[in-house]
Amino acid sequence: MTTQLPVLPAARDTRGRALHDLRISVTDRCNFRCVYCMPRAVFGPDHAFLPRAELLTFEEIARLTAAFARLGVEKVRLTGGEPLVRRELPELVRMLAGVPGVRDLTLTTNGVLLPRYAADLKAAGLHRVTVSLDADDDDTFGRMNDSRAPVSAVLEGIRAAEEAGLGPVKINMVVKRGWNEHAILSMARRFRGTGRVLRYIEYMDVGHTNGWRLDDVVSAEEILETVGAAFPLEPVPPAYSGEVATRYRYADGAGEIGVIASVSKPFCGDCTRARVSADGQLYTCLFATSGHDLRALVRGGVGHDELDAALNSIWAARDDRYSEIRTAETAQLPKVEMSYIGG
Ligand code: GTP
Ligand code: 5AD
Ligand code: SF4
Ligand code: SF4
Repeated sequence: MTTQLPVLPAARDTRGRALHDLRISVTDRCNFRCVYCMPRAVFGPDHAFLPRAELLTFEEIARLTAAFARLGVEKVRLTGGEPLVRRELPELVRMLAGVPGVRDLTLTTNGVLLPRYAADLKAAGLHRVTVSLDADDDDTFGRMNDSRAPVSAVLEGIRAAEEAGLGPVKINMVVKRGWNEHAILSMARRFRGTGRVLRYIEYMDVGHTNGWRLDDVVSAEEILETVGAAFPLEPVPPAYSGEVATRYRYADGAGEIGVIASVSKPFCGDCTRARVSADGQLYTCLFATSGHDLRALVRGGVGHDELDAALNSIWAARDDRYSEIRTAETAQLPKVEMSYIGG
């Protein structure tokens, strides 16, 4: 069997970090308005989302993904906004599933459109999904996502994904002080023993519209104390190097949870993630203020070798470690929004 990988030596940045993961935002739109991501006061009826002509086409996304795979990317995650509001998404999945070198193809979604798309996504070659859910009571959930979707709609989405063969499903819960920390334990209770892995995420200062304050962060330590007091926990080694979640298992065998402590315990040291926005800007950090225009390269007729070399040199120059050097001042920078760059 012939292989096209890799054409260049594996890319390393200035801190010796390889390029392993590509996170592609396929749209900046979403059917939710989570308070920590797309506050309605900013993302209201007059908000200017990206016009369609500015979005990368599926062919452009597939071409870029193939180039990233030649540089060492093995994991690809589709995000948004809400990726399932992009029309014909399963077709993009089918194209990406065929890219040589891509071993893990996943999707982060709020789940409400999964009953409609799960089977098609699986048939197209998607491997797994991660579903966001910030509380398991409608009142708290509704306040977090500022839309009308009930918890049951997300639970149906999770079930649809499992039935389609997209499990085991990971569930992401962002914890924001004063908003949903009372749901930490009920979420643990609900998902223990189900095979679903709940991950608690520290609220981050992504973007510049969510009004983040350090006081709003419920630390991983506090979360673990809350869960551990009710259900004793034991640490589990990482599933792979550079895993963002720190894993724990229930001592009684009811499965595992994770905490993503990007504020209290940053993990920039082995960050191997590149992000491409829906309009084709490459960002080498979630907290970047500017990106590199890949769409201009692709639409300008760049050749394969030239494209690979351009990506390689952007990665080679990377020295990002925002979470490690965060201060009250950096938190105020005009960083790009999570709904635009992807989760
Ligand atoms: P798996 O491949 O399933 O292990 O996925 P993952 O652990 O990478 O998790 P996922 O992609 O669902 O990311 C979970 C959350 O972690 C994101 O929604 C972010 O909140 C946070 N996160 C992921 N990557 C980064 C990163 O590079 N920097 C920071 N600061 N946070 C990140
Ligand atoms: N802090 C932490 N996580 C966030 N997400 C979005 N905004 C933030 C934030 N400010 C997470 C969501 C979802 C993914 C798309 O990104 O929970 O799981
Ligand atoms: Fe939408 Fe996800 Fe952002 Fe919530 S966190 S507004 S579901 S993109
Ligand atoms: Fe990677 Fe930037 Fe997150 Fe650090 S802050 S882990 S460099 S994306």
